[in-house]
Amino acid sequence: MEPQPNLEVFAARKRAGERLVMVTAYDLASAQIAREAGVDAVLVGDSLGMVVLGHETTLPVTIDDMVHHTAAVVRARPGVPVVADMPYGSFHVSPDDTVRHAIRLVKDGGATAVKIEGGRARGAILAALLAAEIPVMGHLGLTPQSVHRFGGFKVQGRGKDAAARLLDEAAFLEQAGCFAMVLECIPAELAARVTAAVGIPTIGIGAGPGCDGQILVFHDLLGLYRGRRPRFVKAYADLGDAAAAAVRRYAEEVRGGAFPAPEHCFHDAPDEDPDPARRAGKG
Ligand code: KIV
Repeated sequence: MEPQPNLEVFAARKRAGERLVMVTAYDLASAQIAREAGVDAVLVGDSLGMVVLGHETTLPVTIDDMVHHTAAVVRARPGVPVVADMPYGSFHVSPDDTVRHAIRLVKDGGATAVKIEGGRARGAILAALLAAEIPVMGHLGLTPQSVHRFGGFKVQGRGKDAAARLLDEAAFLEQAGCFAMVLECIPAELAARVTAAVGIPTIGIGAGPGCDGQILVFHDLLGLYRGRRPRFVKAYADLGDAAAAAVRRYAEEVRGGAFPAPEHCFHDAPDEDPDPARRAGKG
């Protein structure tokens, strides 16, 4: 039996002063790639609403969407903790209903932990989730579920008062029992101050190099998302262009009659099998 993914990696990395690497994953392919790349943990982010489901924001994502995609990621056996986002509306309800939703992510989805956006306002549900044995990752700064309150996707924590508020919220999340927190789109200097002030790891996205770890959205990192790319993203590949070129070549070959070629065809012979693994006796 494979060992259970262990959240201890978060505390261990912070203790050792080693940076944590996270990436989002939403399905079998992305989770397998994350595993092969050797990341420390994956997040099934509600960003899937934008990069997979085509919504303008993360707000329409449902708990059913999250369970469905979390289960697909877990079936890939990524071998590392799988943190599942609690989508908008799933924890803006009573603590009992919040726990019911989170339990679905753990039981039906197989998540190791959940992530919720917000600070002090989440006190009651944080206590309820932890009492139900569900580890929680916090998320401060540009919390995308607050897009309407923020008036758009804007850098948060600028100025003395906002910085002090964010430091206070971060201290609260640690004291409330979160095992780590995402800091999204805040000034790099503030993220470094938060990181020094709290004992749990900070995972930055658009928060500079002073965090304990970093996370990027899979589709942004690989150049697969055709929408707006935030300035804090570094695309390490242009797989969207490569994929479009491959499909274009396929279309040309179908139209020109070059595909399928003889090696892609079956004939009336008993030793032919469509699955190469089975043909090699591995199936
Ligand atoms: O939904 C998501 O992918 C996230 C990360 C950007 C942190 O919350």
